[in-house]
Amino acid sequence: MNRKHLLIGACAVAAAVAYILLRPIPTNDVTSSTPPKGSPRVAIHIPPIEGNTAIGQRIFENACVACHGTNAVGVEGAGPPLIHVIYEPSHHADESFQRAVAVGVRSHHWRFGDMPPVEGLTRGDVTMIIAYIREIQRANGIN
Ligand code: HEC
Repeated sequence: MNRKHLLIGACAVAAAVAYILLRPIPTNDVTSSTPPKGSPRVAIHIPPIEGNTAIGQRIFENACVACHGTNAVGVEGAGPPLIHVIYEPSHHADESFQRAVAVGVRSHHWRFGDMPPVEGLTRGDVTMIIAYIREIQRANGIN
């Protein structure tokens, strides 16, 4: 083998390495893409909503939906999902919902900032909201 052949061989190796390093990375990797602002944060199953849970749903849609999203799936850029294992009853009992509404929440689990207190709701209203949230949590194996 003379020097010319060596040079050609070295070029071929360099080209192969460049191809491996520079080839396009497949873009169908969903975990690396950031969903747009306003997107739901979790996909859930919705159980039948009736009785007290339907009343709770109406109150939730007036007072909480802007940050926590329709059926509490969360809102990208605004607030966390409550249909989430973090909020299962053994970790966030019903009283933590009452307290969140009455005095607000200092940001600790997420990076959405603090939750301000929500004005104009009675404990009874919040009890209905809790019934609604727990119903959807149970339907999604969070209990
Ligand atoms: C202005 C936006 C906003 C509104 C409106 C809002 N929340 Fe929140 N909420 C948040 C954010 C943000 C957090 C997460 C704080 C953290 O842990 O980082 C949160 C957390 C919570 C928590 C968890 C409390 C804890 O102890 O960790 C509960 C329960 C809750 N919200 C219930 C409600 C209910 C019920 C309503 C409607 C009556 C409501 N939120 C309205 C933004 C909001």
